[in-house]
Amino acid sequence: MTELTRMPEPYKMKVVEPIRLIPREDREKAIKEAGLNQFLLQAEDVFIDLLTDSGTGAMSQDQWAGMMIGDESYAGSRNFYNLQRSVEDVLGYKYFVPTHQGRGAENVLFPLIIKPGQYILGNYHFDTTKAHIELKGGRAINLIHQRAYDTASAHPFKGDIDLEKLEAFINEKGVEQIAFILMTVTCNSVGGQPVSMANLRSAYEMAQKYNLPIFLDAARFAENAYFIKQRESGYENKSIAEIVLETFSYSDGCTMSAKKDGLVNMGGMIGIRDNEELFKKVRQNVVPIEGFPTYGGLSGRDMEALARGLREVIEEDYLASRINQVQYLGERLKAAGIPIQEPVGGHAVFIDAKRFLPHIPQSEYPAQALCVELYLESGVRAVEVGTLLAGRDPETGEEIYPELDLLRLTIPRRVYTYNHMDWIVDGLKRIATRKDQIVGLKMVYEPEILRHFTARFAWVK
Ligand code: F0G
Repeated sequence: MTELTRMPEPYKMKVVEPIRLIPREDREKAIKEAGLNQFLLQAEDVFIDLLTDSGTGAMSQDQWAGMMIGDESYAGSRNFYNLQRSVEDVLGYKYFVPTHQGRGAENVLFPLIIKPGQYILGNYHFDTTKAHIELKGGRAINLIHQRAYDTASAHPFKGDIDLEKLEAFINEKGVEQIAFILMTVTCNSVGGQPVSMANLRSAYEMAQKYNLPIFLDAARFAENAYFIKQRESGYENKSIAEIVLETFSYSDGCTMSAKKDGLVNMGGMIGIRDNEELFKKVRQNVVPIEGFPTYGGLSGRDMEALARGLREVIEEDYLASRINQVQYLGERLKAAGIPIQEPVGGHAVFIDAKRFLPHIPQSEYPAQALCVELYLESGVRAVEVGTLLAGRDPETGEEIYPELDLLRLTIPRRVYTYNHMDWIVDGLKRIATRKDQIVGLKMVYEPEILRHFTARFAWVK
């Protein structure tokens, strides 16, 4: 990919939503009222919102048109069957049930396939995934390759699971202690880094060898496929559709948050390749938790939007534009000397706050301090993925200091333009010239669980 190239978006705008940069004094007031926690800001006080790429994307005219043919029948809605055809064509799965979002899928599937005490082995489990595993008595183990922790090393597939560690773990604990393997594509928690097809295939073969089920956490499956096409030899001439089908062929099923690559604002699913027994159990379990199996937490119109989104997201010009925009942001920050996780991932650029603000100790939440500064400087809302998010050790109550303290600039799909990317870079460049003056934070209110959402802070000194 050529450095710093802008690529025209393969769409034009028909409806626009105004956003406003409120004056600096108002931003100061807003962030202080929010206890220096950007989760507590009112969205209208934010100019560019990079909190998450989840459910924040823009739908196409075809998806909006589909909303009008929503069939809100309680059972057997036509949109369910449309979605079923998309799931079969795009993912190659015979069975699925819709859920309201990704964690709904985890909540329905996991109790059926985890026995208390069992281990669930993955490259790196997303937070809600880990939480649902633990709620069902399982133990979530991350076996990502060590290189993922070095933000400066530019490996093309930093989302790969370490196959040697995987096999060693299975042998050490014994197969009966393992519930299943879960491959997260792309791997959000280490920076939206892709997993190679070779790694997916080997993990699948290992699952076969030990007779273990293997699932995908498929939230960003299309972005992963695009990286495979760009970076893995043998795939340059394959279509994204073919790569996606091959990806899903190396799994027994998936949980999916459709709020990312489903290109919808709400939705998810459990997909099952061909295991009819498991599908029967899932269909039973979805009823009391999410809803009847032909809607499972979604309205008919939402299922229609998803049925169309699954087909749109594998269009190559869309993916090229999407990934290029994120790369452009990353490359410009890098050119300005701002340390980022490399290579740039699919859905976000991560700034390494420990390297950017070495004068702030990790106990004073450097990435969170930078989030506050970025909002004050340019009205941009980012999110901390570091010490604040990691929380405390449940046994000792001590703070956990993760290896990485990152600020995530998460880019919604089809929402912002390159001009917005430039605005973000310019703000960070101004901050870089006076970064030594940024002070750390101390927590003045700390909730017992999921503290990052509601904690309140004050500046140290
Ligand atoms: N798996 C992955 C890899 C995710 O990134 C997420 C959500 C989920 C599962 C849960 O899905 O939100 O639909 O229930 N990630 C969002 C984020 C919240 O900001 O990274 P959900």
